[in-house]
Amino acid sequence: MRRIVVTGANKGIGLALVSAILEYADDTYAYLGSRDADRGAAARASLVAMRPAWASRIEVLPLDVADDRSVADARAALEAALGQDRLYGVVNNAGVGIAVQELASMLAVNTHGVRRVCEAFAPLVADGGRFVNVTSASGPMFVAKCSDERKRLFTNPDVQWSQIEAVMEEALRIASGHGTYAVAGLADGESYGLSKACANAFTLAFARAHPRLHVNACTPGFIETDLTRPYLESSNRTAEELGMKPPAAGTRAPMHLLFGTLEVNGRYYGSDARRSPLDRYRSPSDPEYLGP
Ligand SMILES: NC(=O)c1ccc[n+]([C@@H]2O[C@H](COP(=O)([O-])OP(=O)(O)OC[C@H]3O[C@@H](n4cnc5c(N)ncnc54)[C@H](OP(=O)(O)O)[C@@H]3O)[C@@H](O)[C@H]2O)c1
Repeated sequence: MRRIVVTGANKGIGLALVSAILEYADDTYAYLGSRDADRGAAARASLVAMRPAWASRIEVLPLDVADDRSVADARAALEAALGQDRLYGVVNNAGVGIAVQELASMLAVNTHGVRRVCEAFAPLVADGGRFVNVTSASGPMFVAKCSDERKRLFTNPDVQWSQIEAVMEEALRIASGHGTYAVAGLADGESYGLSKACANAFTLAFARAHPRLHVNACTPGFIETDLTRPYLESSNRTAEELGMKPPAAGTRAPMHLLFGTLEVNGRYYGSDARRSPLDRYRSPSDPEYLGP
């Protein structure tokens, strides 16, 4: 069995991804991560109602990625369930959007949460296994507005976690009224983009530290979910007019990073499952990024 953990899988893109994974092959097994056990159970029930045969291939994994204890408990539960077996992959999909006002809360899930899960679960993943960090095009769009020095940091293949932490600490100091984002080279300090730029940079560092694994990041694209709903509702336009796609469309890049042929590690992919740069937006209609 190819056993795969998807975090934040009780709804939205995560739920669509669990469905896509189970549909992809009969030898896949999904740990449906959910920070709320009841929401996880309801999500599992919705998939089993759709396909009763999936009942033996989906398990709810209680997991709050912002909570050290919850991640440690999830790891212990997985270790016990796996025995000598190993995970095939982990998808860090859990995320929060602009509805979260506080930068610290945003970073706790979108950046620290990704790192927490990567570090805790890496020993459970088989050699050649996959880590997929679902970040966002907001990351590269944020980096595009930063100073040259910050751009170099966010795109440096040798970036250290301590450097990413220093950026986040500086942003938090500014958010609490000390200094300005512009002077710090952090553009307008837009918190979602900053959190995703940091998660992309972490992906570089984590991939470098784990050459036995395939570690990459991607954006799912512009997808209609609870995360984007506030934007949709305030726009007075339809999802279609805004170019938003359904959750199933957001699984294309993560599915490629889970099951496709991957030559190099530590890369960031667009929603069309083709490489994109870390410091500017590439639209799916643009050619694939072939740079360093
Ligand atoms: N939708 C888009 O257009 C878009 C674009 C770019 C990137 N993304 C990224 O795609 C990922 C999925 O987003 P989505 O659009 O599917 O949003 P969504 O429907 O709001 O789903 C987010 C999921 O993350 C979970 N979550 C939030 N905080 C968590 C925590 N501390 N621990 C564990 N799970 C947590 C949520 O659980 P609860 O139900 O318990 O809140 C939910 O299951 C996110 O990383 C997002 O940033 C989305």
